[in-house]
Amino acid sequence: MNKLFGVMALSLLSFALMPLTATAAGGEVKLQQANVDLSNNAAIQRGAKYFVNYCMGCHSAQYVRYKLFTEVGLTEDDIEDNLIFTDGKVGGLMKIAMPEDDAARWFGAAAPDLTLTARIKHGGADWIYSYLKGFYTDPSRPLGVNNTVFANVGMPHVLWRLQGIQDPVYKYEVHHEGHTVASFDNEAEAEAYAKERGETYRLERVVDRLELVQPGSMTPLEYDQVARDLATFLTFIAEPMKLERQRIGVWVLLFLIVFTVLAYFMKKEWWKDVH
Ligand code: HEC
Repeated sequence: MNKLFGVMALSLLSFALMPLTATAAGGEVKLQQANVDLSNNAAIQRGAKYFVNYCMGCHSAQYVRYKLFTEVGLTEDDIEDNLIFTDGKVGGLMKIAMPEDDAARWFGAAAPDLTLTARIKHGGADWIYSYLKGFYTDPSRPLGVNNTVFANVGMPHVLWRLQGIQDPVYKYEVHHEGHTVASFDNEAEAEAYAKERGETYRLERVVDRLELVQPGSMTPLEYDQVARDLATFLTFIAEPMKLERQRIGVWVLLFLIVFTVLAYFMKKEWWKDVH
């Protein structure tokens, strides 16, 4: 009962936050499609493993009990052996030891709890997928990295050993009254173009694409799979009720069919003497 109440409260909360985040997203950032498949238990299991290994040093998922993963085919022993490194219990929550203000001190930003991120972020799984693929070198940032979908991010590229290192290839856009009027690969050309036309023409440097300049231990395709598994995992924990609903959905439909048939015969029975 308590659990159900918690889930309902969380759903309501994320629902209430939805319009807010939708407008906050504002600027157009192109997301890559994650194509997550929530019926793929193996992907969720792999995502969970990456999460506890690479993310839980800083992020919790504190509304999730480890036990949830029995729903995707793991036994309690599997969970204890492969997913719990702390003194946590199978029935316990995915909390971490690092206090938020330590994170804030070290990275300039607190590492938020990730339980609902897939629901709250505009773009959901696609956003997470693009984010994990979007780290690039940027010497002007304190950690030396930036991100294509999260400008001036405070998180280090924790998966760089797997993915390798990406450099940005910039392009230079000339904006005028809210429109992009020209785009150049070369900064000097863009500057000259803008100058010629006057002060209201502004230059903006944008990341055109990323180039792998130092390969990691994985191929790009293998790394895509890691990002997709993590996005699948985060989508799964954000909506544990989703799968449940689908199962219940079948029964609801069956009920409706049976009920319709019954209602039809009842109507016939009631109206047969009325003419
Ligand atoms: C070394 C600590 C650290 C590790 C490890 C780490 N993160 Fe982060 N993460 C952060 C911090 C700090 C932020 C907040 C960045 C900001 O606000 O600028 C963040 C932000 C995020 C966000 C954006 C959340 C939001 O609501 O804006 C996502 C998603 C995320 N991390 C996913 C991951 C995943 C997935 C992993 C594991 C592969 C991971 N992180 C590992 C520190 C970490």
